[in-house]
Amino acid sequence: MSDFFQIAIDGPVAAGKGTVSRLLAQKLGFLYVDTGAMYRATALLAIRHEIDLNDEDKVVAILKKSKLEMRNPLPPDEIDGRLTTVILDGEDVSWAIRTQECSEGSSKVAVLKKLRKVLVAKQQEIAKSQDVVMEGRDITFRVLPEADLKIFLTASIKARAERRHTQYLIKGMNNTLEEVIEEIKERDERDTKRKTDPLHITTDDWVLDTSDLSIEEVVDTIAQRVRKIQKQK
Ligand code: DC
Repeated sequence: MSDFFQIAIDGPVAAGKGTVSRLLAQKLGFLYVDTGAMYRATALLAIRHEIDLNDEDKVVAILKKSKLEMRNPLPPDEIDGRLTTVILDGEDVSWAIRTQECSEGSSKVAVLKKLRKVLVAKQQEIAKSQDVVMEGRDITFRVLPEADLKIFLTASIKARAERRHTQYLIKGMNNTLEEVIEEIKERDERDTKRKTDPLHITTDDWVLDTSDLSIEEVVDTIAQRVRKIQKQK
């Protein structure tokens, strides 16, 4: 077990992992690591260099040539609603990686085995030297299998689709709820059927269903458990 406290969170798309992890990290004074942002940044990089997103070697090569940094947003400029700050070769791409194109691209590059190996190593390196709340799709069983607390954060398809639909409306996008449900089902299919490290629940995961809980309730419930474990550590 690491000297530092590691919280690993996995779960399907739109389960609230990002918001919960960010607030939890803030409450505990930990670093929040959004691993999905790394897959998104890789997709952005490949798209900008006009690299085929299925070309494993080229995608890995371009990532290795680039510098990808992540940090908690710094006041005042970076406090603009983002959950994490992502710097790619010196450029702040925190918002550029959130487009529909990058979302789709990230789920394509996420199936590349060699790329996953590179990003997993990078994530493990980050968690070696500081307390972290790390979230993604393979954190509890691949990146940090020995984490102090492992959580599978989930919610019903209906709850997840409604949350995502509200986010879209705020952004001015007009997708219908039915379209969002379909999109979520498609993403679930890709995440859980992937050959390399498909998303799944491990036997020692704490499965937390957030369908009927507010964000604050989820964060408080997890923080209470963290304090208990910290006392025993
Ligand atoms: O959580 P997100 O939507 O930002 O993730 C972007 C993509 O990356 C999504 O298709 C799932 C994938 N991903 C992954 O395969 N493994 C992770 N640890 C994190 C994200």
